[in-house]
Amino acid sequence: MSDPFIQGKAEEPTTDFDVSLRPPDFDEFCGQAKVKERLMLMIEAARQRGDALDHVLLSGPPGLGKTTLAHILCRAFGSEIHCTSGPQIEKAGELAGILTNLKHGDFLFIDEIHRLHPAIEEYLYPAMEDYKLDIIIDQGPNARSITLSLPKFTLVGATTRAGMLTAPLRSRFGMTNRLDYYTTSELTRIIQRSAGLLGVQVEPDGAREVASRSRGTPRIANNLLRWVRDFAQVRADNLISAEVADRALGMLEIDKDGLDEMDKRILEAVIFKFAGGPVGLGSLAVAVGEDEATLEDVYEPYLIMQGYLKRTPRGRTALLAAYQKVGATPPKEIQGDLF
Ligand SMILES: Nc1ncnc2c1ncn2[C@@H]1O[C@H](COP(=O)(O)OP(=O)(O)O)[C@@H](O)[C@H]1O
Ligand SMILES: [Mg+2]
Repeated sequence: MSDPFIQGKAEEPTTDFDVSLRPPDFDEFCGQAKVKERLMLMIEAARQRGDALDHVLLSGPPGLGKTTLAHILCRAFGSEIHCTSGPQIEKAGELAGILTNLKHGDFLFIDEIHRLHPAIEEYLYPAMEDYKLDIIIDQGPNARSITLSLPKFTLVGATTRAGMLTAPLRSRFGMTNRLDYYTTSELTRIIQRSAGLLGVQVEPDGAREVASRSRGTPRIANNLLRWVRDFAQVRADNLISAEVADRALGMLEIDKDGLDEMDKRILEAVIFKFAGGPVGLGSLAVAVGEDEATLEDVYEPYLIMQGYLKRTPRGRTALLAAYQKVGATPPKEIQGDLF
């Protein structure tokens, strides 16, 4: 007998901690108001027509709620979700297996969809557009193509790199949503909700302190909260005040602006090793001992958004805020730069 709970767990590479804090519906999902409104409208319209939901692409840096939203969408629509990810599908046959197992109205969630093999992507185009799958059977002179009809399904794709999707794939999504970093007040609400679920007491100022150091990212906010909870349990009678949060985060070397050791190492490398830039991604990655993809997907977007770095065609350049952060004197040409 197959247990759907176990199955769901096997498909989803998340921890119990994640799952227990993951908001189950739109009401509990804080922030991203525009995205939420669009998705809810889309659901209502499809429901009224009795149709399957159009394909949806969710993009944005890691930890902003793409996987969570995919599950919420599916639940709100009352469908069943099947999860996989771009790198997991190695052969066209595997994709065919997944697609032919779908039932009418089912959701297929493909995480990291930008990492799908190009040859596999091509099978996806007709599947998304016409709900048809062309597969080639046999080899050599006997090879022939047969077309399978698929049930009407909804593809939800998630990607940290919308720019890496090919134009034909992107154009087959009915709607593309970019998730943005969260504001401190949104993160404060998320932390208060998580604290409630974890059964830990947090003062409003304590929640705000953690929120303001979470790089605009709910996943980081929850992880920091877990650490601050441990700290409060051992050293502060289980109560998270602003002062307790500050001491706990200080111990992790996360500064007032939420930058951690790696962020500072990146800024120092650009300024001291590469004279403020421009420096190419490859050289920067070697200098800080991190791989290029992690630098580009995880660290850079936040540093750029906060005005520490700028991406130019010739490479990354440090801005005034970066010099101030590492305590270096900025060159004359950017001293007047208010950024
Ligand atoms: N809007 C939100 N409100 C509350 N919690 C959130 C929200 N977005 C994300 N989270 C939390 O952050 C964690 C990471 O979200 P996830 O959907 O896995 O991000 P992504 O797939 O974009 O990397 C989730 O486990 C969830 O607990
Ligand atoms: Mg995810």
